[in-house]
Amino acid sequence: MSDSPKQPDPLTMIIFGASGDLTRRKLAPAMYNLSAGGNLPKFRIIGFARRERSDEQFREDLHKAIHQFSRAGTVDARHWKAFAPCLSYLSGDFTDEARYKELKDRLTAAAQELGSGNRLFYLATPPSLYPDIVRCIGEMGLNEPEPGSWTRIIVEKPFGKDLETALALNREIHAVFSEDQVYRIDHYLGKETVQNILVLRFANGIFEPLWNRNFIDHVEITMAESIGVEGRGGYYEEAGALRDMVQNHMMQLISLISMEPPIAFEAGEVRNEKVKVLRAIRPYTTESVKTMVVRGQYGPGRVEGQPCVGYRNEPGVAPDSNTETFVALKLLIDNWRWAGVPFYIRTGKRLPRRVTEIAVRFKQAPYLLFRDTDVKQPDQNLLVLQIQPEEGIFMQFGAKVPGPKIRIQAVNMDFAYGTSFQEDNADAYERLLLDCMLGDATLFTRHDEVETAWSIVTSIMDGWKQLDDGQGSVAMYGAGTWGPREAAELIERHGHRWRLP
Ligand code: BG6
Repeated sequence: MSDSPKQPDPLTMIIFGASGDLTRRKLAPAMYNLSAGGNLPKFRIIGFARRERSDEQFREDLHKAIHQFSRAGTVDARHWKAFAPCLSYLSGDFTDEARYKELKDRLTAAAQELGSGNRLFYLATPPSLYPDIVRCIGEMGLNEPEPGSWTRIIVEKPFGKDLETALALNREIHAVFSEDQVYRIDHYLGKETVQNILVLRFANGIFEPLWNRNFIDHVEITMAESIGVEGRGGYYEEAGALRDMVQNHMMQLISLISMEPPIAFEAGEVRNEKVKVLRAIRPYTTESVKTMVVRGQYGPGRVEGQPCVGYRNEPGVAPDSNTETFVALKLLIDNWRWAGVPFYIRTGKRLPRRVTEIAVRFKQAPYLLFRDTDVKQPDQNLLVLQIQPEEGIFMQFGAKVPGPKIRIQAVNMDFAYGTSFQEDNADAYERLLLDCMLGDATLFTRHDEVETAWSIVTSIMDGWKQLDDGQGSVAMYGAGTWGPREAAELIERHGHRWRLP
């Protein structure tokens, strides 16, 4: 995992889907910030999309988008003057050969201007278009790097919709690009607090000896959102929380928190260990889906004081939809480190607040020394990795309340990014784009990682299909609550309780 201090070599970035939401919200602000921060070399961006637009209109659109979505919340006129001329636009159908010829000509011209033929393709279109685009790139020979240059492709999620489609997509991509040219993006890996999981575990001597079944009782991961489906009802109906959050972001957190130490901080080694632990996750059977997985859907309610409609009343959602907006599950990792340690995970929309955290609960002290006092069983020691919006880590342990009697209270030892560091946290896309330009794939997902994550998630979906019986068994929860009652029962059955984040 490099610190990305280097500057990449000059390059041309080609964004497929340049008039879409992702370009406006994430890609344009990230490229602008990288450029304004002096982290980009000489570059060109060619936006490719179906919508008719002139170069000038494209620049205006991106100016507005950067103003609206960039973390600085503003566009500096001086930087914009340098940035804008690097942008151009190509409109047309993604399967039109003539447009790819035009693209090829533009790439040749850009390579001459920049003195470098490096090319970065970015697939930011709906995923159904990926196979055609990749095939057309291949037919035009644009996948082949020029001598002395590189060609890479970033692929956005969703990467398939089950194991079979993910395998097919990998085959289609591999027919044109070799694996080391492919960068599958998961923006969670671009978050500072997520990268810090590995630093916490492997740069400190005190945690790793405890990081196993002998000392850890269980792990809870919460990825809660207060937002609903935000106008993406059509997409979400096809996806649901399991595909939208668990297959990708959640599996990334699970693998980072549970993997073995890699032998080096290098893409191949880190990803080998991530795949290895994912492969140790016990697949679900219909029976275990029944007892270990809960799916929920929000009904009407209030979130952060505001009334909100139920999922079935969101635009683009079927009035009798059984798509899950919440999933909670118990997951087991069958290896020496984790045998018998349950991982409880939950994610959902329209929960009371936005919070992502990993809570590691340690086993009780082996013997209650203070038994002739008022002390009941003290709380389990707890280590919480706060991913967002709070960014930090705290450790909870028991301390003696001052006074003549022995009384014990849980207290915190706290680290917060805001108080310890002055540096700004760059947006995840900035970090990931830069890593890709530098050829560092550590924070990108390898094909076998995606496939292994899909095989676990697909075993759950298969279980649901078996159980459904055409009835649908999604449990309802009110918007603004922590999910259906069944989610609480899932963990309480084992004598635990979800932490209130
Ligand atoms: C996206 C999902 O991948 O992640 C969205 O499609 C979700 O549904 C988003 O809201 C959450 O990302 P973050 O960074 O806001 O936690």
